[in-house]
Amino acid sequence: MEGKIIYQCKRKTVYHDGDRAIKTYGPTYAISQVLNEALNQSRVSEAGISAPMVYEVKKFDDRYGIVMDYIDGENIEEILKKNPNDAEKYITLFANTYHEMIQTKNLNLNNSYGRIKNKIFASELPTNIKYGLFYKLRDMEFSRDIIHGDYAFSNVMIRKDGKPVILDWGHVAYGDKKLDIAITYALFELQGRKDLGDIYLDKMKELDNIDKAQVMKVLILAYIYIVDRYEEAISKNIYNRIYEIIKNEEA
Ligand SMILES: Nc1ncnc2c1ncn2[C@@H]1O[C@H](COP(=O)(O)OP(=O)(O)OP(=O)(O)O)[C@@H](O)[C@H]1O
Ligand SMILES: [Mg+2]
Repeated sequence: MEGKIIYQCKRKTVYHDGDRAIKTYGPTYAISQVLNEALNQSRVSEAGISAPMVYEVKKFDDRYGIVMDYIDGENIEEILKKNPNDAEKYITLFANTYHEMIQTKNLNLNNSYGRIKNKIFASELPTNIKYGLFYKLRDMEFSRDIIHGDYAFSNVMIRKDGKPVILDWGHVAYGDKKLDIAITYALFELQGRKDLGDIYLDKMKELDNIDKAQVMKVLILAYIYIVDRYEEAISKNIYNRIYEIIKNEEA
């Protein structure tokens, strides 16, 4: 594999090679998952969403990699590590970028409804709670908003010329934007940055007229949507958070 490593975690490595970035996946990833992410990403960039263009999916030894445009810039998480006082400015940009993304038309995506339903019934929650969540989900069955599914600071890069570019399209689908906003909020909470989550909700109220109460109502579903991404220690915390929300709803 040519190129310089620009990101590495347990199961993925991103390389920079000239004007291309190559996101490679460890051998535990099925080819279908990699192709699905590449397909989603090419669909969104073809529809005009600001995302790195995909050129090909290639096999490098025992790993598959998505070859895409290299984005010359930094993600918002990295920017804020260096400039913590700019949080408000970047949250505004982050919210505006989301607002613009969901205006996109002529996009063909799968629906998230069946996937979330499966996640509810595969979860370790008691049966009565599973049905309660399923009824909540049914209210959103026919929503056709674009949901990114992992809209977080680390997935929005700011190019050197100031243009935001959205990454990480493995989860994009049609669904209800309230749920996507709740996922972003849950991701802030998991990083111990509920304060930033609250500012994000204020911005989304201004931009999309979704208020905090609507988002909070689906926060449990957001946690169920993301819990299977994490290892045991974090998923245990997420379940604790879910039980806490249920207790508060019942009170
Ligand atoms: N096309 C690109 N150009 C430049 N940098 C990129 C590109 N794609 C990814 N990166 C860098 O690599 C990081 C990780 O990429 P990405 O978000 O796609 O992986 P990930 O699926 O979130 O990985 P993980 O599951 O470990 O969180 C990004 O935050 C960004 O800094
Ligand atoms: Mg990412």
